Amino acid sequence: MTTDCNAPIGVFDSGIGGLSVLKALRAALPHEDFVYIADSGHAPYGEQGAAHVLARSRALAQYLVSQNVKALVMACNTATAAAIALLRAEHPGLALIGVEPALKPAMALTRTGRIGVMATRGTLASAKFQALLAAQACGPQAVEFITQPCDGLAQAIEASAGTGDTTKTIALCAYHISAMGPFGTKPGEIDTLVLGCTHYPLASEHLRALVGAPVRFIDNGEAVARQTRRRLPDGLLASNARPGRVSLFATSQTHALQAAAQRWLGLSAAVGLLSF
Ligand code: DGL
Repeated sequence: MTTDCNAPIGVFDSGIGGLSVLKALRAALPHEDFVYIADSGHAPYGEQGAAHVLARSRALAQYLVSQNVKALVMACNTATAAAIALLRAEHPGLALIGVEPALKPAMALTRTGRIGVMATRGTLASAKFQALLAAQACGPQAVEFITQPCDGLAQAIEASAGTGDTTKTIALCAYHISAMGPFGTKPGEIDTLVLGCTHYPLASEHLRALVGAPVRFIDNGEAVARQTRRRLPDGLLASNARPGRVSLFATSQTHALQAAAQRWLGLSAAVGLLSF
């Protein structure tokens, strides 16, 4: 692993979803440079099985390590669930940070004891998520998690970033929210919603319109940013006084990443196409 404190931090996701994490990373680490890859040519991850996600995560990690990143953030719940253990074994010296659905913080917030968890089918089916869920059951609080595999939603969010047409995103948000049951703050209602896929915060305005103002949304962007800061020893923090730069790449649909980066992060950088 590089010991150059001004080397960039690598970040990847299946698409634009990881921008929700990159936003928090930039706020927490304003002088750091980032290289972001949207693997849109091989998305969606959530519905293609763990072997595909593992193979793509390995290829992306290898590429970013070859670009001398000083840390690697897997800004994707599905990839973290499928591949973080193997990537840790393959890159033992690398600061590697993953993201997983924020079940524990949700438990601290709920009053009704009913917590909704929206995630991809791949994340929910993974052994890592099942272990996380089982670990919460050991706590003193009686809480029920209502998990919803949100088929199609990440892909719809991705498509709407390119076209500006949110019709399908809104319809899928409505479908998945209604499948989870009533939301609100009365007994028996879901009062806390875990956004367990990094794409979903990009649809939070549509989700909010469906569940109402009092329901709390939780995603892990800020926690991942704090964890990344912790994993970089002081000697590895950027010594640049200038604001950090972001380089954007995609394995297809560069226009979707460009539009989303402009909209969510105010970035007007050109997006490079990677073909692997
Ligand atoms: N953004 C990804 C996640 O956090 C997955 C989206 C996809 O299915 O490709 O799980």
